[in-house]
Amino acid sequence: MRTLREIPALREALDDVRRRGERIALVPTMGNLHAGHLALVETARQHAEVVIATIFVNPMQFGAGEDLDAYPRTLAEDQEKLEAVGCDLLFAPETATVYPRGLEAQTRIVVPDVTEGLCDASRPGHFDGVSTVVGMLFNLVQPHVACFGEKDYQQLAVIRRMVADLHFSIEIVGVPIQRAEDGLALSSRNGYLDAAQRATAPALYRTLFELRDALEAGEAAGATLASGYARLQEAGFSPDYLELRAADLGPVTQATREAVLLVAARLGTTRLIDNLTLTLP
Ligand code: PAJ
Repeated sequence: MRTLREIPALREALDDVRRRGERIALVPTMGNLHAGHLALVETARQHAEVVIATIFVNPMQFGAGEDLDAYPRTLAEDQEKLEAVGCDLLFAPETATVYPRGLEAQTRIVVPDVTEGLCDASRPGHFDGVSTVVGMLFNLVQPHVACFGEKDYQQLAVIRRMVADLHFSIEIVGVPIQRAEDGLALSSRNGYLDAAQRATAPALYRTLFELRDALEAGEAAGATLASGYARLQEAGFSPDYLELRAADLGPVTQATREAVLLVAARLGTTRLIDNLTLTLP
């Protein structure tokens, strides 16, 4: 696997791939890779001859007081893991390469509607940072396919909307959530949890599955969500939100069948997210 740190080298490597007529699949990440990220690379492999991963801890998507400085940076280990799953190229630029004029002077991509509520409520501006950097990576790499995890459900919806609105000719592939054996969704932020918090954390996933069973059995959404919220608090979480939305993140109506339960909750200072799709009766 070749690691590229500069844009001219990236363009040159990709020009070679395109000259050979091969398809390119992109997997954007912020590094500190785990089996969730590697599942994206493996899915990407099924869609293209050449897989390119990116590692960039994107300052534009972190709010003031968030974990930008503490975010784990583990490039050497990440390179080994990518090699092992057969990734072909890694683009790992410096911040000054991505934003040479600084964040304030940077042109941005702002996606409406699907960015409202949920994670945007506690992380205002977060999705502008995500859509801007992913749009930039799409333009730099011009992949045929790009893979994103369903763990970040709202992020995936934002990317799909951006691709539609800006007429990017890129197929977006969603990859199911990869979980630890006890059900906790894999996340680079799980490493922040102490032993007691790590033991509590799977209650997030268990609550979602219990709520799904109740909702699919026809129980009223309002009361079901309220009891789930209370259960999370009793377990020691500070929930940011626990919501039921239509699968496209629109409001649930009488006609809604395909829906999604979404949760974000803090354990101490660590913010965890999870979601589960369901079919309403
Ligand atoms: P990051 O949190 O590193 O995640 C990179 C990709 O891995 C995202 O598409 C995310 O949904 C996926 N992913 C993470 N954990 C997963 C799991 N347990 N199962 C399945 N997929 C999982 O998301 C970002 O980085 C950034 O916002 C990024 C898109 C790279 C833009 O900066």
